[in-house]
Amino acid sequence: MISQSSLLFLTSFIFTTLISICSSSPILTQYSILGPNLDKYPSEEDAMKLFQLWKKEHGRVYNNLQDMAKRFDIFISNMNDIIESNSKRISSSDYLLGLNKFADWSKKEFEETYLNNKVSMPEDSDMKVNEDLTCYVPPRLDWRKKGAVTKVKNQGGCGSCWAFATVAGIEGINAIATGNLISLSEQQLVSCDKKSDGCEGGEIKDGLDWVLNHGGIASEEDYPYIAKNGTCRTHKVRNSAYIDGYKRLAKSDNALLCATSIQPIIACLNATAFQHYQGGIFNGRYCKKSKFTDHCVLIVGYDSNKNGIDYWIAKNSWGKDWGRDGYIWIKRNTDLPYGVCGINYEAFQPIIDESVSKPLKPSINFM
Ligand SMILES: *[C@@H]1O[C@H](CO)[C@@H](O)[C@H](O)[C@H]1NC(C)=O
Ligand SMILES: *[C@@H]1O[C@H](CO)[C@@H](O)[C@H](O)[C@H]1NC(C)=O
Repeated sequence: MISQSSLLFLTSFIFTTLISICSSSPILTQYSILGPNLDKYPSEEDAMKLFQLWKKEHGRVYNNLQDMAKRFDIFISNMNDIIESNSKRISSSDYLLGLNKFADWSKKEFEETYLNNKVSMPEDSDMKVNEDLTCYVPPRLDWRKKGAVTKVKNQGGCGSCWAFATVAGIEGINAIATGNLISLSEQQLVSCDKKSDGCEGGEIKDGLDWVLNHGGIASEEDYPYIAKNGTCRTHKVRNSAYIDGYKRLAKSDNALLCATSIQPIIACLNATAFQHYQGGIFNGRYCKKSKFTDHCVLIVGYDSNKNGIDYWIAKNSWGKDWGRDGYIWIKRNTDLPYGVCGINYEAFQPIIDESVSKPLKPSINFM
């Protein structure tokens, strides 16, 4: 619903501030649209200035005034949520929300486009769960520094997180096993895995099964991403990587840690609160049911901050301009069942068996 008042306000604002908006603005530093300083509720006029700056920053163009007024209302509502959430931070390392590229998306639009329910799996699934285990691991680890993580990708307006997380997991183990970091094809999974629903969502298990049954997966270069369902191409599509199997991990911080010490791990969780994430350690303050997952990411490492708060480093698939250069830090070693927003609930480790002969093994050495 478009509020009449904001439409009126918008119209009058446009005519009265066309000149002032072009001059330098103290608003930008006061309510930084990029930084962490959004902590006070601005006046409607300041909010409008912020909106104009934000639109410019994100190159947003609306079809008409009506549309702009609607977006302005959503922007204000999101801004209020952001300010409220930021006001509840208890330490400087606690996570921050900000006016990122999703600031004019309603929660509903965001959930429908970027998140999906199909990634969740019943607990009594017949899948073998890897035993919980203890292991010796280094205090911090970052697979990006070891050449096992491709650049941050963007799923766009397609609910294909399941394909991005599946592919990212295979890219990781493939780089470790073969020494070759190859960007692999999400589109092949979206278009070809008929057990999944393409842009309407899918499950990691089905994505991994597809790669297993198909005998491999194409490279991003050979089968590029189009952010649409598409039709499955088979002509002249060769496999660039493969897996020998996969494990679903036991549902604990420890199982996730041990597995992450071996390779990047695919993990699903409730990411409803990710929309405006800007930085800091996400602690899932508002997640209630721990068994609900609507999104999947790749755990590429872990670390602890100066105050001894432990966190996962997770690669997302919403572009480099979301979160911390496309990544999110998620608190680990909590006493929450299944971890923050259920991050331990549904984690997968793709496997390449070193003892099996590898026809694809390239001659380049892994550093
Ligand atoms: C994409 O494919 C899935 C399943 O194959 C289907 O449920 C969905 O409606 C399709 N989406 C579009 C936009 O065609
Ligand atoms: C998912 O997280 C959001 C926000 O963090 C929360 O409001 C919602 O209740 C959670 N969903 C479930 C089913 O737990």
